[in-house]
Amino acid sequence: MKVLITGMDGYLGWTLSMYLTERGHEVIGIDNFSRRKNVAEVGSWSATPIKPMKERLKAFKDVFGKEPIFYEGDLTHYDFTRLIVENHKPDTIIHLGEQPCAPYSMIDVYHCNFTMMNNILGTNNLLFAIHHYSPKTHLLKLGTMGEYGTPNIDIPEGFFEIEYHGRKDRLPFPRQPGSWYHQTKVHDSHNILFACKIWDLRSTDIMQGVVHGIKTPQMTDERLLTRFDFDEMWGTALNRFCAQAVIGHDLTPYGKGEQTRGYLALRDSMQCLTLATENPPDEGEYRVFNQYDECYSVNELAEHVVKAANDFGAEVKIWNVPNPRVEAEEHYYNPANENLKKLGFKPTHTLDQELEITLSELMKYKDRISAKKDRILPTVFWRK
Ligand SMILES: NC(=O)c1ccc[n+]([C@@H]2O[C@H](COP(=O)([O-])OP(=O)(O)OC[C@H]3O[C@@H](n4cnc5c(N)ncnc54)[C@H](O)[C@@H]3O)[C@@H](O)[C@H]2O)c1
Repeated sequence: MKVLITGMDGYLGWTLSMYLTERGHEVIGIDNFSRRKNVAEVGSWSATPIKPMKERLKAFKDVFGKEPIFYEGDLTHYDFTRLIVENHKPDTIIHLGEQPCAPYSMIDVYHCNFTMMNNILGTNNLLFAIHHYSPKTHLLKLGTMGEYGTPNIDIPEGFFEIEYHGRKDRLPFPRQPGSWYHQTKVHDSHNILFACKIWDLRSTDIMQGVVHGIKTPQMTDERLLTRFDFDEMWGTALNRFCAQAVIGHDLTPYGKGEQTRGYLALRDSMQCLTLATENPPDEGEYRVFNQYDECYSVNELAEHVVKAANDFGAEVKIWNVPNPRVEAEEHYYNPANENLKKLGFKPTHTLDQELEITLSELMKYKDRISAKKDRILPTVFWRK
């Protein structure tokens, strides 16, 4: 299949470009390198050194014998987006090219507005370009499990049957996002659902859990590594804990640490996105997949990292710090994740298995983590 990956320079996009190429798909990529610039803006960097795109593509060709067609450009510019969709008419667009960071969107009005415009306009431009120039294209869009929030009832996959005042309907499940970034994903979901309805587009809206891991079997050369961010803004809780363990710092869960979320290994996220690509929805169909494997609380994550670190001879402790976010620190959490399993998804790596690989790889970049260790503790507060 011909697959356009937006955000190909990013954590998931770069990994996916190799995974899909190895499976025989033709890959085209887009990125505006905003992730690199935005991480630099907050004084941080990826633990793994990320080569310029030219060098990445050279390494790609050396290892895979061919390289993706790559375009540098911004999805919020409609003419750029339209030209690529019109010229390539991809079977699938895997849309990863958004600003993915909650704390960054909470810094101030400018960062909130940047996230709103970047994410919502980019997705809208893709919807219009598909409608006008390639209406059979499947839009596979990365949303987040964070769209649902933490309701006190089970979370279905996108829709639920409800009876109210004696009448029944199948309705979108209520969304309760926890940051301006998560709000953009909810707006995207509404816009995609609407576009599928009025224009008969086909789309899969992936409610992606937190992805963890640093290496997949395709990364046989250091130049092919994907990014691993560990600072307060761009690092997930698990990434921060791994980085802290590597430099012998206490692990710092926020608040009570009972915030529970769904997690998935990087290689298994690749498997899921590929399954959704190779099994597209029907014309006019908008479907939602909850994409995660295991659920853990933040305290449990920290405990797993302590155990994995001990196996490497590192002694680290857990130190719960005041929570900079506004969120439930203890709550019910039971999301469904059946749709991908029905397509054949079989998780291959548990958190513990993946942690072993991640920590051993991260040890090589201990100096790069130490150099930015003052960027790990929180400085962005939701209520400020
Ligand atoms: N990584 C996770 O754990 C996770 C979890 C849930 C959802 N997601 C979603 O998956 C997607 C990919 O996540 P990621 O971790 O790879 O993020 P990432 O920041 O590493 O990758 C996104 C890429 O898109 C590019 N980009 C952003 N805006 C763009 C624009 N306007 N035009 C062109 N390129 C643009 C960035 O430069 C970056 O390289 C995001 O939409 C994110 O919200 C990720």
